[in-house]
Amino acid sequence: MGIVLNGGTIVTAADMYQADVRIEGERIVAIGYEIKQPGDQAIDVDGCFLFPGGIDPHTHFDLPMGTFSTADDFFTGSKAAVLGGTTTILDFATQFKGETLKAALGNWHAKAEGKCYVDYGFHMAITDWNEQIAREITDLVQVEGVPSFKLYMAYKNILQVDDGALLQALRHAGESGALVCVHCENGDVIYDLVHEAVAQGKTSPKYHPLTRPPEAEEEATARVIALAQIAKAPLYIVHLTCKGALQAVTKAKLKGIEVYAETCPQYLLLDDSYYNLEGFNSAKYVISPPLRPIDHQQELWSGLQTGILDIVATDHCAFNYQGQKELGVNDFSKIPNGAPGVETRMGLLYTYGVMTGKLSIHEFVALTSTNAAKLFGLFPRKGTIAPGSDADLVVWDPRISSVITVDSLHQNVDYTPFEGFKQTGQATQVFLRGKQVVQNGRLIEEKPMGNYLPRKPFLKRKVEENV
Ligand code: URP
Ligand code: ZN
Ligand code: ZN
Repeated sequence: MGIVLNGGTIVTAADMYQADVRIEGERIVAIGYEIKQPGDQAIDVDGCFLFPGGIDPHTHFDLPMGTFSTADDFFTGSKAAVLGGTTTILDFATQFKGETLKAALGNWHAKAEGKCYVDYGFHMAITDWNEQIAREITDLVQVEGVPSFKLYMAYKNILQVDDGALLQALRHAGESGALVCVHCENGDVIYDLVHEAVAQGKTSPKYHPLTRPPEAEEEATARVIALAQIAKAPLYIVHLTCKGALQAVTKAKLKGIEVYAETCPQYLLLDDSYYNLEGFNSAKYVISPPLRPIDHQQELWSGLQTGILDIVATDHCAFNYQGQKELGVNDFSKIPNGAPGVETRMGLLYTYGVMTGKLSIHEFVALTSTNAAKLFGLFPRKGTIAPGSDADLVVWDPRISSVITVDSLHQNVDYTPFEGFKQTGQATQVFLRGKQVVQNGRLIEEKPMGNYLPRKPFLKRKVEENV
């Protein structure tokens, strides 16, 4: 017995057409007309789009931060994700000082197993580089299904690695079939600017963006691109926010360097005026890199339109305002960095991208699902609607409009940076590997059904390098 979704409009990164979709077990088995078989359940999705389930390749669920952890763990974060139309997340398993990568990966498996409402994979964030770690990379790619690593050029003395480690990691990863993802900000410069500001009594959140200027991101982006070129390794820039960094990526792409980049809804839709809110409210927007002056937004939208930016992810890293963000009330540098967004990504990009005419509906699908599946070793199992692909499907009803408020969301955090934003469309029904998990916008499957996704190695663009 299967399920047939009747009368919807299928949208992929390439096509849009009306057809029925038949699901059997976990997979899509047929697309066409009169495909219903005896005993099948028919679900009418007339007037709705069918999108491939969203893939958010940048989340931080259950991330320890000193004495506490992010407000969303895998249980609450993934519940919010699926209700927003995302059926796969890639979270950053993080190696802390002295740990092996294998131990770090084990920690993240324990956090996620049996607690995730969406399918999930891990990138491995390396914070402590040495020869033994270098040797572990191949194992992670070949045995553990982790073909992507992350390194930070910022957060000095905590997560930051130096250029030597970056170069080595790029080399080892590139040779092992992995993609290196990098947080690009000049951590040394930021460290000095922050300490200087605090010493001068400049302690309110408005100094957060002033001590992390766009030039610090631009410089780091250009530097890591140069390192990737030296290492002959592919590179993925996470959460790109500003014109200068975009120009560095544009220049690299035009030169044929294999570099990819993501941005996030907060950088497309919010600007640095949020650092002038009353009281301590600006702490909600203390994220790194910070929100930029409004003129950077148009450039980022252009980057999406021209294909210079490949993915819209969230960097969901939720901290409550009360009790967590408030830890920095006397010193902005003590505010935990990060904001929630996993539930609002698809709705915001549809509303402010597709509905405004900035993005085609195909670009929307590519940016929220297909490109991530391709870059992170999941395509064509994920990221498209085709026979043989996992039946991860979002029934998107474009006739529904709503307003985003913290109370309307399911993220386990006491604010949303997008409070009051209007949304057009809703993920009214969501299927995860053939099982309906969301109906009429509500979760109907109480048990988390998400599976770990071992991923395929990264295929470099130059075909001869892959054989
Ligand atoms: O402020 C942010 N983005 N926190 C999460 C960690 C990171 O930099 O990705
Ligand atoms: Zn980052
Ligand atoms: Zn992040």
